[in-house]
Amino acid sequence: MLFKNPPDHMRLRSLIQVVFTSCTADDFLPYIQETADTLLDRVEQAKRMDIVADFAFLLPSMVIARVLGIPADDRQLFRECSNTIIEAIDLTRTPDTLHRSRKALFRLAIYFQELIEKRTQHLQNDFISKLVIAGEQQGRINKEEVLAACILMLIAGHETTVNLISNSIFALLRHPEELDKLRERLSLIPSAVEECLRYDSPTQMTARTASETMSIGGVTIKKGQNVYIWLGAANRDPAKFQDPDKLDITRSSNHHLAFGSGIHMCLGSSLARVEAQIAINTLLRRFSNLQLETDDLQWRELVGFRSLKALPVSFTI
Ligand code: HEM
Repeated sequence: MLFKNPPDHMRLRSLIQVVFTSCTADDFLPYIQETADTLLDRVEQAKRMDIVADFAFLLPSMVIARVLGIPADDRQLFRECSNTIIEAIDLTRTPDTLHRSRKALFRLAIYFQELIEKRTQHLQNDFISKLVIAGEQQGRINKEEVLAACILMLIAGHETTVNLISNSIFALLRHPEELDKLRERLSLIPSAVEECLRYDSPTQMTARTASETMSIGGVTIKKGQNVYIWLGAANRDPAKFQDPDKLDITRSSNHHLAFGSGIHMCLGSSLARVEAQIAINTLLRRFSNLQLETDDLQWRELVGFRSLKALPVSFTI
């Protein structure tokens, strides 16, 4: 058993919220920019790169490591673990993925337990230390809850942002007229990111268990029934969006559900938005003539996440 007493999710949420309100996504802006530039420096001479492996994967993993205060050298471990655990959250899970993911979860838990212990001895200016302080001050947050909050942040904040960056770049490459428009007016980047969140949502699905019997859209859902909510489909709803299958980076009143809604709405949406905006801005400012190197792109076999395996491109500088 990973936890003696499984932590209450809403308590975890408010714990993360308390710590998140002590800093804003803007606090990480210089680091995100510096990291985006460093990653592009590495591929500049080659004039080709895999957007997923060389850029979209590394940027969020370095940022979330920084947020949590994970030493840079340990990134490979949580990269492997989060990749495996995400497969267990997906509807396509099999006994084998569940088994591998349980092992990954234990590896991650052991790692974080050691880190939490170190931060308890020597507090630093990072998320884990702030969780520890919040626990000590309020005297009601135990180490298991700090551990669960770290794991939740890592899993929720990593894979999704990788997909946002790569899916956005892919969508723009597939719509050269929109890409040109964006290059001419980089001030459209925030609106372009919102449109990409809607058009090819990184998280396609979420789930709920009905706490009471209700009727939605003429369908009765009984108390205790599981409901799968297709955020990606809602984001292409013609009753809500004009020309929903069209990528329009100037779309106004773009009230998509890519970050969910209600009491479980994403806590990292500002951070994810800033990361994607900086990633796209830096890529477009530094490299010209971005071209897809192949039309034969592979997606990971997941239904809840839109996740490209690779996105090879060439460019000029
Ligand atoms: C493009 C990137 C992201 C997408 C598309 C995304 C999407 C979502 C969605 C749809 C939910 C709601 C799940 C539900 O309703 O059941 C959620 C929850 C959450 N997200 Fe994100 N997320 C992203 C990035 C992040 C980041 C960067 C962090 C933290 C650093 C984060 C932390 C969380 C947490 C802690 C929750 C759980 C909230 C709760 O259950 O109460 N997310 N996210």
